Amino acid sequence: MNVKLVLVEGGQPIRSFQLVKPETLIGSDPASDIKLRSSEVEPRHCIVQRKKSGLVLVDLGTPTGVFANGEKVARQATLASGDKLRVGAVLLEVVVEEDHHFAIAKRALHRHYGALPPFSVEELRDWTAEQLAEQVLVRLNALVEQNLEEMPEEHELDRLVTEVHRELTSWGPLERLMNEEGVTEVMINGRDQIYIERQGRLLKARNMAFDSDEHVIAVARQILAPLGKFVDRANPLADGRMKDGSRVNVVIPPLATRGPTITVRRFSRKPLRGDDLVKYGSMSPNMLRFLQLCVRERVSIVVAGGTGSGKTTLLNVLSSFIPASERIVTIEDAAELQLDQDHVVTLEARVSGLEKGEQPVLIRDLVKNALRMRPDRIVVGECRGGEALDMLQAMNTGHEGSLTTVHANSPRDVLARLETLIMMAGYNLPLPAIRHQISSAVQLIVMQARFRDGSRKVTTVSEITGIQNETILLNEIFTFKQSGYTAEGQLQGRFASRGFIPKVIHEMRENGIAVDLDIFAQAESDKTF
Ligand SMILES: Nc1ncnc2c1ncn2[C@@H]1O[C@H](COP(=O)(O)OP(=O)(O)OP(=O)(O)O)[C@@H](O)[C@H]1O
Ligand SMILES: [Mg+2]
Repeated sequence: MNVKLVLVEGGQPIRSFQLVKPETLIGSDPASDIKLRSSEVEPRHCIVQRKKSGLVLVDLGTPTGVFANGEKVARQATLASGDKLRVGAVLLEVVVEEDHHFAIAKRALHRHYGALPPFSVEELRDWTAEQLAEQVLVRLNALVEQNLEEMPEEHELDRLVTEVHRELTSWGPLERLMNEEGVTEVMINGRDQIYIERQGRLLKARNMAFDSDEHVIAVARQILAPLGKFVDRANPLADGRMKDGSRVNVVIPPLATRGPTITVRRFSRKPLRGDDLVKYGSMSPNMLRFLQLCVRERVSIVVAGGTGSGKTTLLNVLSSFIPASERIVTIEDAAELQLDQDHVVTLEARVSGLEKGEQPVLIRDLVKNALRMRPDRIVVGECRGGEALDMLQAMNTGHEGSLTTVHANSPRDVLARLETLIMMAGYNLPLPAIRHQISSAVQLIVMQARFRDGSRKVTTVSEITGIQNETILLNEIFTFKQSGYTAEGQLQGRFASRGFIPKVIHEMRENGIAVDLDIFAQAESDKTF
């Protein structure tokens, strides 16, 4: 094993120091093994020890201390390849180059470990983190004994077990990203390609990597195990919701051909509110007022857009406008909605269970069941199958003001998509009947999109006004008119009202509800968002 500390300045490697001795002293003293000249570095600042079990950093009690990956080292810390140290004002990166045979042995040990039956959900629930770590260690030691011919020499065994153990019980780089403020999504494509989304922008996480693809799979399994799920070559796909509410998807080889892939959509503790959407330029104040009014007055709404366009976020905002006096039943694949109202029942579908005897429960089953729960409103996270029919029937039969989302790229596309989904329900309904059902159930379609600069916007709000010659009639109420991008890549454009009073508003007024018609006054001037 070849261990180096690389001095980094302005993001560039400047110099590298080999760590050959059991202890390497770092400081400003000329007698130090690694001499760093900087006012904040003490003569004897810290020591890096090469132990059988790995690398250990010891801070020698300096006032400025040592930081490993941004965290102050209390007294000592174990180090791994890729760790970043700050000694005074100097940045050093740990680089460990494995010997070939050691790397092969590590992979073998991971492989043997992965072939063992996973711990049961009960065990995982009852054990503390320490107990789990202990059990993993017991398994690893047994595997080393059973597969000695594949293991490295005696003096490297400890380090091998320590490293594999750490990889099986830690989330590596993912841990740090999961705790980082402002990161909304983490995407891991194999060991050394990690992307994050921050403020709507996709960024590559530089200088961050897992030790191996095996480590990525080990992390995926750690995340999935408490959810009662497992991945291996025979079951290379898994989905779930983590304890903190974040949503995770895992695909490993052979399905993911370039390495194991983990995608985490982080749960945001504070969901966005209507005012935030206006502040972020996702809709105009008038659009917000209109949508707020429509939700309150039981207008049935479908939110639509592409993947990651912010449909669920908008659905959450719209649902928050449902009056607290009403009983709400929410139905989702993985519970993401966070409603503040008191009277909310949250149902979650079950795709497939690992526990014996667990049957899948589909969104559709839950929608049917919800109708027996005396809901005032049903909120379905996404319609992607036959549940669309049950949902529209609910909207037509006393559950007006129910809300859902579909995956579609334009209001027309929403109608086509709903037709297809209803056909999937399998009743062989004739197309005119399907269209009639849609046009009488859905009143508003709100399109949301994600733009190149990462921003999300409501691009149109349309209403369904009727049906003529078997064609559903759509009217745009509000639109976003894009005028281009600034030199910095920021989207420019404006929200505009089409300047007429929507049918739903006429109906509200007929029912004696006062509506400020200024909401539909035309055009605001061009804006950069
Ligand atoms: N208006 C917005 N402004 C800024 N960020 C937003 C906005 N709406 C959503 N986001 C962010 O975009 C990401 C995706 O949002 P969301 O889950 O609502 O999208 P989605 O369309 O439901 O995605 P999927 O298709 O995967 O279900 C989240 O990280 C969320 O915080
Ligand atoms: Mg969603």
